[in-house]
Amino acid sequence: MATTLYHEPVLLAETLAHLNLEPGSVIVDGTLGGGGHAAAILERAAPDGRLIGLDLDSDAIAAAADRLQSFGDRVQLIQASFRRLDDVAAELAPTTIDGIVLDLGVSSYQLDEASRGFRFSPGAESPLDMRMDGVGGPTTAANLLASLSVEDLEQVFSEYGQLPGSRRLARAIVARRNSEPLETAADLIDLIGGLGIGRGRRHNPATLVFQALRIAVNDEMGALGDGLQAAIRVLRPGGRLVVIAYHSLEDRLVKRTFRQAARGCTCPSEWPACTCGILPSFEILTRRPIGPGPEELERNPRARSARLRAGTRLEAA
Ligand SMILES: C[S@@+](CC[C@H](N)C(=O)[O-])C[C@H]1O[C@@H](n2cnc3c(N)ncnc32)[C@H](O)[C@@H]1O
Repeated sequence: MATTLYHEPVLLAETLAHLNLEPGSVIVDGTLGGGGHAAAILERAAPDGRLIGLDLDSDAIAAAADRLQSFGDRVQLIQASFRRLDDVAAELAPTTIDGIVLDLGVSSYQLDEASRGFRFSPGAESPLDMRMDGVGGPTTAANLLASLSVEDLEQVFSEYGQLPGSRRLARAIVARRNSEPLETAADLIDLIGGLGIGRGRRHNPATLVFQALRIAVNDEMGALGDGLQAAIRVLRPGGRLVVIAYHSLEDRLVKRTFRQAARGCTCPSEWPACTCGILPSFEILTRRPIGPGPEELERNPRARSARLRAGTRLEAA
């Protein structure tokens, strides 16, 4: 594991402020990473606040265990997905959960650690793995590239990467794999470069392709949808949920889920009266998403795309 800083926590002051921490607060950090947010939460909730930390990645659990050692039995760490928050709450948590933080995506450690295959720098001989949990996930990026149809590959690139030329790339991958498999990041980057797609655009096309594959490999949108619903369910009334998203797909899903929970009723808008009887379960605290200020961007350019949204669980639900 890298000895340098595992991950610089993003929008830290804003996260702490929206969690509304007090001594004794019980907080779930669903995306522990290197434990940066977690350490600050534990300090703010001293002397007896507790933190339950989840991460899919065993490297993250090990790094956070090291970093949070001094907090002793105020910390419990579990290698699990935040989409299992209901089970985790039932197994571990006390009667109340006062706050939940989800800081989505990958950590700097995961991006920088070549063996994980998230890296898209030219010439990278890293394997096309991209599983968040490093070992146990169902499939790797190389498996997807070797097995999906042209249509399915196109859908992954267009939906999760918004990549111009998605169909051309999908076709080129299928043509290439018939003679030679795509196994390393360099194989894929060379193929993308040779097609000239997305040239001159704001985002490097390889960045978009790698993002799309990572989202598909880890079913990130499915996990986020399940995790947000579970988070709202398990919070105590008045408890806080803070979510930091790093691309528009994630942020849109957070915004929609918050709005639906704040609305309650799921009846079609053209119906004259509500028949579902579902009450609002959530109040949105951030009218607009909060991004990093100039000082944070100067210190940590990787915070560039971060968008924080927060809300509170309502009594009536
Ligand atoms: C941006 S990092 C979090 C960094 C952390 N807040 C810190 O201060 O160090 C995101 C982390 O979430 C983890 N992760 C992503 N999806 C997850 C999921 N569905 N369940 C649990 N952890 C997940 C990743 O493995 C990664 O370690």
